[in-house]
Amino acid sequence: MENISVAVVGAGIAGNFHCNALKQVYCTRVRLKTIVDVDTERAYDLLEKWGFQNATADYESVLQDPEIDLVCIALPTVLHADFAIKALNADKHVICEKPLTGYFGLPEEGFPAENTASKRKMCDSLLKDMSALRQAIDKSKAKFLYAETYMCFPNCASIAESVRTLNVRVLDIAVECSIHGSERDLIELRKHVGDSSLMRVAAYPLSSMLFGKQLEARIHDEDIYATSVSAEMGQKRADNSACAENFVNIAVTFSDGCKGVVYSCDKSYYDHTQGRMRNWIKSSFDNGYNSQNTITPADNVKLYFLGQEGYESAWRQTDWFNKYDADEAYNKYIIELNRFIGRVVKNRQGSSGFSHAYDCVKIIHAAYLSAEEGRCIYPTGNARQ
Ligand SMILES: NC(=O)c1ccc[n+]([C@@H]2O[C@H](COP(=O)([O-])OP(=O)(O)OC[C@H]3O[C@@H](n4cnc5c(N)ncnc54)[C@H](O)[C@@H]3O)[C@@H](O)[C@H]2O)c1
Repeated sequence: MENISVAVVGAGIAGNFHCNALKQVYCTRVRLKTIVDVDTERAYDLLEKWGFQNATADYESVLQDPEIDLVCIALPTVLHADFAIKALNADKHVICEKPLTGYFGLPEEGFPAENTASKRKMCDSLLKDMSALRQAIDKSKAKFLYAETYMCFPNCASIAESVRTLNVRVLDIAVECSIHGSERDLIELRKHVGDSSLMRVAAYPLSSMLFGKQLEARIHDEDIYATSVSAEMGQKRADNSACAENFVNIAVTFSDGCKGVVYSCDKSYYDHTQGRMRNWIKSSFDNGYNSQNTITPADNVKLYFLGQEGYESAWRQTDWFNKYDADEAYNKYIIELNRFIGRVVKNRQGSSGFSHAYDCVKIIHAAYLSAEEGRCIYPTGNARQ
């Protein structure tokens, strides 16, 4: 396949990131064919900004279009599985945003559903959703690629590089993703994302940890999987009652004995205590080698402000500041999209597909169950069952 024609579905924040990255794919020629959004004004904005040929609210027209090879799904999580299944049924490759799916509740459960629904019921419902998606993947001639961008930070890749070049084992791995969160109405957002901090934020570090272990398994040619999960989660501040939880700690033991820890918290708690963003990944290896990678706050660019008028209020004081490197955030999409499109073009699945997405969702829900029941959960099932 020399050229690839793409539809981006969802013209919001993630859709815009995908478009920016698609414009910078260098392994083949990418044609931005169609941008889809129910909000056609948004779709037309991105058509103009990125040079799509068509903008539409009608997803069916994308499915019917024989010229479209690949669909990027950048929709609210509640729609991911359904839109992905339809694209796969039409034999179109899919790049799907994270998290793969979630639990969105029943009307009688109130909102957010995680506060009232039985976690066991949530887990059962998720596994059912994923089984439908797996069947569509199995039947389709097309590929399913899971867009979990955190693993594309060069820092995360350096762990796999260490395993490969030094032929070592990862003994423990700790990852944090704590962010300021969305500026948008959280209640509205959560109706469509179906969750709170665990799904929206902790999904990033968790999936990067799983991805790292998956790469290690491949390098050593063996199966490595999570054998137990225990988690704590809750409200660190009581000022955000719409939130099911705003902090999460998850401990995972892997079949090779490796211990993983995920820390995560968002908006209401984090804003008041520790600054706006903290992302890092640390690991120890069995040869005594250790790696410690800070993603944000980045400390490679420092700015000094004299406190002049005209700067945003937070920057009025005189001091040194670490600059948030937005390029770095964009870069991870560019790395990801290049990697994914390269696989589609060369007809190779690569490592971040359904089984990675499946493992991530499985552990997220084992974590919910563990926190609810106050015990360790031993997850069963794998992506092929
Ligand atoms: N990987 C990352 O770094 C990252 C960052 C942000 C968001 N995300 C993920 O991307 C997804 C989208 O998040 P977002 O922040 O861009 O949301 P968003 O609300 O900004 O954009 C979603 C868009 O989908 C459109 N939409 C809703 N229903 C639709 C339908 N039936 N058909 C067509 N369009 C429809 C909305 O009008 C909106 O424009 C979420 O799953 C989120 O978790 C990932």
